[in-house]
Amino acid sequence: MKPIRQLVIEKPWLGWAMFFATIVIVFLLGLLASSVIERREEAVFAYTPQVEHLQLEPRNEIWGKNFPQQYERYLATSDTSFKSKYNGNAWIDMLEENPRMVVLWAGYGFAKEYNQGRGHYYAIEDIRNILRTGAPVGGKESPMPNTCWTCKSPDVPRVMEEVGVAEFYKGTWEQRGHQIVNPIGCADCHDAEDMSLRISRPALKEAFERRGLDINDATHQEMRSLVCAQCHVEYYFKGDGNYLTFPWDDGMTAEDMEAYYDSIQFSDWTHGISKAPMLKAQHPDYEIFMTGIHAERGLACADCHKPFMNEGGQKYSDHKVQSPLNYINRTCQVCHREDEKDLFENVYERQDKLKESRDRLEKILVQAHVDAGKAWELGATEEEMKDILWDIRNAQWRWDFVAASHGASFHSPIESSRILASGINLAMEARLNLSRLFAKYNFDGEVPYPDIETKAKAQEFVGLDMEKLNSEKEKFLETVVPEWVKKAKAREENYEYTVL
Ligand code: HEC
Ligand code: HEC
Ligand code: HEC
Ligand code: HEC
Repeated sequence: MKPIRQLVIEKPWLGWAMFFATIVIVFLLGLLASSVIERREEAVFAYTPQVEHLQLEPRNEIWGKNFPQQYERYLATSDTSFKSKYNGNAWIDMLEENPRMVVLWAGYGFAKEYNQGRGHYYAIEDIRNILRTGAPVGGKESPMPNTCWTCKSPDVPRVMEEVGVAEFYKGTWEQRGHQIVNPIGCADCHDAEDMSLRISRPALKEAFERRGLDINDATHQEMRSLVCAQCHVEYYFKGDGNYLTFPWDDGMTAEDMEAYYDSIQFSDWTHGISKAPMLKAQHPDYEIFMTGIHAERGLACADCHKPFMNEGGQKYSDHKVQSPLNYINRTCQVCHREDEKDLFENVYERQDKLKESRDRLEKILVQAHVDAGKAWELGATEEEMKDILWDIRNAQWRWDFVAASHGASFHSPIESSRILASGINLAMEARLNLSRLFAKYNFDGEVPYPDIETKAKAQEFVGLDMEKLNSEKEKFLETVVPEWVKKAKAREENYEYTVL
């Protein structure tokens, strides 16, 4: 075929025809683009605002008046009917499932009670009910500080604004019980002005600042994870004022954070049996997720935990945050063509395999704690025990880092298994050195693995009086909590918002 230039020279009308055709195409493309933009704007403004309220409005139902779809799905986090192989929103007593945990946490609140996380709707109810917050009745204090409220409620930014951040954390947990009453909600993640995503918690901003980063530079897609990283992260309570702090200064791997804690000689508690200076990993969901393939490919938490819904031509984010396995067609299958069964299998296979290593590490750790207890009994010295206890601490930190990061086995299986493997190494090292100590003290028997078949047996083994704890809690729930609720109601009646 001849080149176009040649054709146009031979037949000039062809040149004009091409010119007009191009103009028509450009015009049509323009029309299409403007219609797309219009539709988008329609989608954004397809609601009639019902109320105008303050940023600090803590009540989800007030925000919900303007955004009924999101509010309705948010309320659906109260659903507890879905149970996947290991997770889901059903209420599960984790210590009953796995009594080894009671021994691993001997001497610490988690040995009293630890449950599977439920939906955001339950954040307040569950923190009141859990034995870890104690039974502060009649002037008695809770064993926990106010810092514990931080990831539970949109009342938190409100009270922080009133009293200041450092002041908010100070004092014991019962002091702010009447102030923090609305479960996790809209004001935690959104700007009231335009509903854009917003970081409401100072600890995350401060962690960024200490690393020389400005969270305001985060992209929109990054924000779709960072709003979750306000709470689903590792943290500790710093100093006497229990200032909420993320240990990210040296990096976000298990080793980086361990080095951070080591450098300040921090420990959460002293183990009840081994006397090791322990760390409790919280839930480094964000940190581990960031090392996995989905984060590497640019996905955010919201892509799987807040997928889009389509209703009457309106697309909106599903605010029923839950296990993505409960709606695979709107999560995984947006990107993967495999059928549901295969995708379930993908998740369960990774979880099963990691559980093998996790169980192994757990058993070695239980034995290491009781072995260390025996070594003390035999008369081992602080000096002899120091390095051994440090290995136990760091081995259990690695176990907890993976165990407490609920989605870790799927979010980042390779990193999770690397962490568990290094934990097994450290725990074995501790046991080896303990058997050397046994030899030194002429003990050649074996320390029996404790009988911890059930939660009740394990709790008895670590010396907990559960009956007492439970009856005190009951009294607290019957007498103190209703007072908190009453006080909060009276306060909220004076909050102003404008009905439009
Ligand atoms: C845990 C954080 C979080 C909470 C709590 C939350 N949202 Fe959202 N919301 C998001 C995320 C993430 C998006 C998706 C934003 C995006 O992709 O632009 C979103 C999107 C929205 C949008 C934009 C339209 C859409 O659906 O994508 C509205 C409106 C909205 N949320 C309303 C609410 C209301 C009302 C509440 C309280 C009942 C609430 N949100 C609670 C995180 C949250
Ligand atoms: C203000 C703190 C906070 C924020 C922000 C937050 N979460 Fe949560 N999340 C929690 C707490 C606390 C629980 C446990 C509630 C309970 O068990 O009572 C939880 C529970 C969950 C669960 C378990 C729910 C179930 O049904 O099993 C998932 C999944 C989850 N969050 C994901 C997310 C994602 C994704 C984001 C970001 C879009 C996010 N969370 C933002 C604090 C938060
Ligand atoms: C590629 C999809 C995907 C992304 C992205 C993702 N998750 Fe998950 N997440 C999962 C799957 C799958 C599970 C396992 C669910 C199960 O076992 O039922 C899970 C489990 C969880 C759980 C425990 C849920 C439960 O039912 O108890 C939490 C909490 C969680 N993820 C938080 C996050 C946070 C925070 C982020 C972002 C930092 C994130 N996830 C990003 C897929 C994802
Ligand atoms: C928004 C798109 C998206 C969603 C949603 C998504 N994935 Fe993926 N997934 C990816 C991409 C991209 C990769 C990387 C593979 C590649 O680049 O070829 C990947 C990789 C994987 C892999 C292989 C990684 C590995 O561990 O070796 C599995 C398995 C997988 N996804 C399962 C799931 C499951 C299960 C869900 C739902 C819970 C899910 N994905 C949700 C995009 C997605």
